[in-house]
Amino acid sequence: MPLVNMSDMLDHAYRHGYAVGAFDLVSLDFLEAIMAGAEACQAPVILSLAESHFEYYDFELAMAATVAAARRARVPVAIHLDHGASVDSAVNAIRLGCTGVMVDASTLPFTKNLRITRQVADMAHSCGVPVEGELGYVAGVEGEDAQKHPGAVVYTSPQEAREFVRQTKVDFLAVSIGTVHGRMQGEPKLDLERLEAIRQAVDIPLVIHGGTGLSDEQFHALIARGVAKINYYTALSDAAAARIGENFRTASGAGYTRLLAGVRTAIQDEVKRRIRLWGGADRTAEVLEACRPWQEVEHFIVYNLSGEAESHADEFKAIGRDMLARVPGVRRVVSGRAWQEDARYRHCWLIRFAGIDTITSYMAHPDHVAYADQYFRPHAGDRLKIDYVLD
Ligand code: 13P
Repeated sequence: MPLVNMSDMLDHAYRHGYAVGAFDLVSLDFLEAIMAGAEACQAPVILSLAESHFEYYDFELAMAATVAAARRARVPVAIHLDHGASVDSAVNAIRLGCTGVMVDASTLPFTKNLRITRQVADMAHSCGVPVEGELGYVAGVEGEDAQKHPGAVVYTSPQEAREFVRQTKVDFLAVSIGTVHGRMQGEPKLDLERLEAIRQAVDIPLVIHGGTGLSDEQFHALIARGVAKINYYTALSDAAAARIGENFRTASGAGYTRLLAGVRTAIQDEVKRRIRLWGGADRTAEVLEACRPWQEVEHFIVYNLSGEAESHADEFKAIGRDMLARVPGVRRVVSGRAWQEDARYRHCWLIRFAGIDTITSYMAHPDHVAYADQYFRPHAGDRLKIDYVLD
């Protein structure tokens, strides 16, 4: 039961005074190293995939590997879209297997940020997926020198945060209190009083972006004030790059695999160091106990088509595969035809939902209603439908 409900995971961290690491992955080496680090520490972990990194890898292929890694894990795992830009990004991420999504509209004015975040939250919640919003602006770029991207930090206002959370109903809030993304010179100055005021105003798990470059004391101070998720990438990227540089210097003529030797260990060591510091180590049993498992659903339909409609079966199915796959919370749509000539039902739909909540939202979605009313129900009176919660 390694994939768990991310709200339950972060609520546990919030109530028990520790933070879960949300480590951005950009390759299989990162994925394996992050998982190995979490397993070695027996800690909950968030596998994070940032939309800003999608130019470096194929998100769909990476998600297939990420979901496989989460399923075979023995520690609690959530899979999160980091810095999603739009409703479409969130729908796509949920389709591919994310169990949490961030919508980052933090560069927009308050009312626009609020509107987009609320749209994403409404959609994701209808699929049972929790949402992280961001208010205020954390400058910098992950993996790069912070001073090369000096955009002005906009601090989160506690009053706006209260209104933002109330109106959007986000489950977690990313705040700006002085951290920046990327490599820094010296420690940043954190506005801890502001963080305390935000915590009191919203009382939901808070998220810190730009974890790289903070001191141990700063991490402890953040966690003591409601931070339950820490986003961390640049230090992992630097540890990997240092190892590759070292390999390049010491192994002349090394090829690709020799250049990458030891990279996973370097990333894993940094992951373990952070998990231990943030208080997540040795919590697997209590977190699994506190978290609902993440349960997908197979919407199973077998049916016969009446008279004339039988000759349009392939056409109707192709239209359905296209329309139904777009409904939020649908992970895949498969149609089929019975192999045996004398089967009780000639046709089937197998539609995989992200979770139990999607059963209701899918039935009510206009695309599903339109398809069912036009192409399915009038012709498929003889049918059987069951929603199976998958073990
Ligand atoms: P760093 O790259 O500074 O660790 O920040 C990571 C981050 O915030 C990803 O969202």
